[in-house]
Amino acid sequence: MCGIMGYIGNQEAWGIVVGGLRRLEYRGYDSAGVVTVSGKALRLARSVGHLRALEDANPEGLPGNIGIGHTSWATHGGVTEANCHPHLDSKSRIAIVHNGIIDNVEALRAELVAKGTQFRSETDTEVLAELIGRGVEAGLSLRDSVVAALKRIEGTAGIVAVDRLDPERLVAARIGSPVVVGLGEGACWVASDALALRPYTDRMIVLDDSEIAELTPNSIKTVDLEQRSREKRVEKILHQPEDADIGQFAHFMLKEIHEQPVALDRTLRGRLDASIGNARLGGFQTQEQRLFDIRRVVFFACGTSLYSAQVGAYLMSRYARMPATAEDAAELSVQNPIVDRQTLYVAISQSGETADTLVALREIRSRGGLIAGITNVVGSSLSRETDFGMYVHAGPEISVCSTKAFTAQALGTELLALRFARMRDLSANDGRLWVEALERLPQQVRLMLEHASACRELAERFCNARFTMFVGRGPNVAVAGEGALKLKEIAYLPAEGLSGAGMKHGPLALIEPGSPVWALVPPDETRERMIGNLRELKARGAFIMAVAQSDDSEVAQIADHMVPLPPHHPAVSPILNVIPLQLYAYYVALAKGYDIDKPRNLAKSVTVT
Ligand code: AGP
Repeated sequence: MCGIMGYIGNQEAWGIVVGGLRRLEYRGYDSAGVVTVSGKALRLARSVGHLRALEDANPEGLPGNIGIGHTSWATHGGVTEANCHPHLDSKSRIAIVHNGIIDNVEALRAELVAKGTQFRSETDTEVLAELIGRGVEAGLSLRDSVVAALKRIEGTAGIVAVDRLDPERLVAARIGSPVVVGLGEGACWVASDALALRPYTDRMIVLDDSEIAELTPNSIKTVDLEQRSREKRVEKILHQPEDADIGQFAHFMLKEIHEQPVALDRTLRGRLDASIGNARLGGFQTQEQRLFDIRRVVFFACGTSLYSAQVGAYLMSRYARMPATAEDAAELSVQNPIVDRQTLYVAISQSGETADTLVALREIRSRGGLIAGITNVVGSSLSRETDFGMYVHAGPEISVCSTKAFTAQALGTELLALRFARMRDLSANDGRLWVEALERLPQQVRLMLEHASACRELAERFCNARFTMFVGRGPNVAVAGEGALKLKEIAYLPAEGLSGAGMKHGPLALIEPGSPVWALVPPDETRERMIGNLRELKARGAFIMAVAQSDDSEVAQIADHMVPLPPHHPAVSPILNVIPLQLYAYYVALAKGYDIDKPRNLAKSVTVT
C-alpha cells in the first residue's frame, strides 16, 4: 500500500508531510511527491526513487501551511516523474494524492479526452483529479466536487485533495482504502496509517468506508456520499512515538524478532483466567449464544497470516475437536464459498488491509456468515468489517517481512481454540495446564532468542545454498512453510516448507550431500515419525538443523546441529519453533547484504487483488 500524508495548520507543511511519509516508507514505494499551496499557487515537487531524492532535489522544501504528499508504487504506467503523485487537474487548480485503483478508469479517461482533456500521465489518479477539477471549475465546492467524482468511480480510493483557490481546507475521503485524521490545536493531519500521525497527536478519527471529511485547522466535518452528516468518535492512537524507531538494531526485522516476548505478553494481557483454565475474549462474549452452535471453523488469510491460520486450524481440531480448515483468502473468494450458520469464519491479517482477505470477508458477509477478525492494526478495514474480533497488540510491524505478527496471530488463534475447547470437551484441569503454558510462553521465547549467534553461524555457512528444506509435522508443517517463506522473501533463496510425510512423495529428490534442512521435532505425537524422516534425510547426506527438546538425545545424535527447546506444552510449540527460523533467514539475508526490511518486489500490505 502506498503512503498518504497531509497537513493543514499554521506551521510550514513541507517538513511535517515529508516526516509523515518517512514513517510510512516501510510499506515500500518507488516514487514520492508533495504539493503545497502558497499565495494561491500550487507548488509541486515529485521525484522517482526514495524520499531522500525528493529532499535532495528540494533542499529548501516548499512554502505553505497546507500540503499533501504521497509515496507510491506504480500501478498504471512506468515509474516516471509524470506518473508520480500528487496529480493535478488539467487547469492546475486542484491536486490530489490517491491510494487504490480505479477499475473503470479507461471509460472515464475516454470521456474526458472526448471533452478535450490532455492527460500528462498514464495514471488513474490523474483521471480522478480531472473529474474533481472540472467540478470546482463548474462552481462546486471542493467537497461537493470530490463527492461527485467519487460517485463516478468503481474501485478503491483513499484520497486527499486541495484547491489552490480555496487554501483554507483539505478534503479527504475513503472508498475502500484507509484514511485517518489526526486532531490537534489549530491543526489537522491526514494519513493512510495512524503511525504517521503519532509524532504530532494522539487523537484521531478513522474514516469509515464511503466517508468524506472536510478539514480546516479548527474543524472537521464528515459526511457520507449522500452528504449526510456523520458523527465520528475520537479514538486514541495507541502507538508510542518511538514504536517506529529502529533503536539499537540494524534492521526493523531484527528489532521485531526480539520484540516477540513483549508482543506476546501484550497479546495475552487480561485474556487468561488461570482459575478456570480458560481464555477471556471480550468480542467472544458478545456472540456467546451463536458461538455455542458453531460446528466448523474456517480461518482465512494470506502469506504469513495464512501460516498462523494453519496453526489455528490444527489447534482447533486437536484440542476443541472442532472441524477446522485454513484457507488461502485469495482462493476462497473465487471458490463460491459454502457459507452456513454453523460455521465461524476467522479472517487473519496483520495489516487488516490485505485486499484478497477483505474480498473474501465481504463475500462471506454478503451471504450472512458470522466472521471474527484477528488483526494487529487498530481501526483497520478488517477490524471494522468483522462481527467481532481480537487485536493482537504486537505493536507496529515495520519490516515487510512479518515476524512478531506471525507469533502474535498464532497466539490469538490459540486463545480462540482454548475458548472453544473449554466450551466443548477440554477439562478445567487440562485448560489450566494450557493457560500455565501460555503464561510461560513469553519467557520461553526469550530463551529461544538466546540462540541467535548459533543461527547466525549456520546462516553464514549456508547463505549460498542452492536449496533449503524445512520439515515439520502437525502444527509445525505451517511453521516449516513460514520458515521457507522468510528465506525466500528476504534472502531470495529457493526453499520449501513441507510435512515430513510429503517430503517422501517428491521433494526428497532435491536433497543432495550437504543440503541444509531445518527439522522441527518437538516432543509430541509427531516426534517418532519425524525421527524416521530425519533418518531418511540423513541417509541422503542432508545437513540437519533440528529444533528439539534439549534432552532429546536421539535427535541430538542424528542432527548435525540442534537448537534446544525448553520443556513446553505441545500447543505452544509452533511459536517456539519459528524463532530460530526467523533468525536464520535474517542472518542469511544479512550475510548476502540485502535490503532486509524492504525486499525487492514486495510491499508491506498487498492492497490489490
Ligand atoms: C510476510 O512476511 C509477508 N510480507 C506476507 O506474506 C504477508 O504476511 C501477507 O501479505 C499478508 O499480509 P497481512 O497479514 O497484512 O494480511
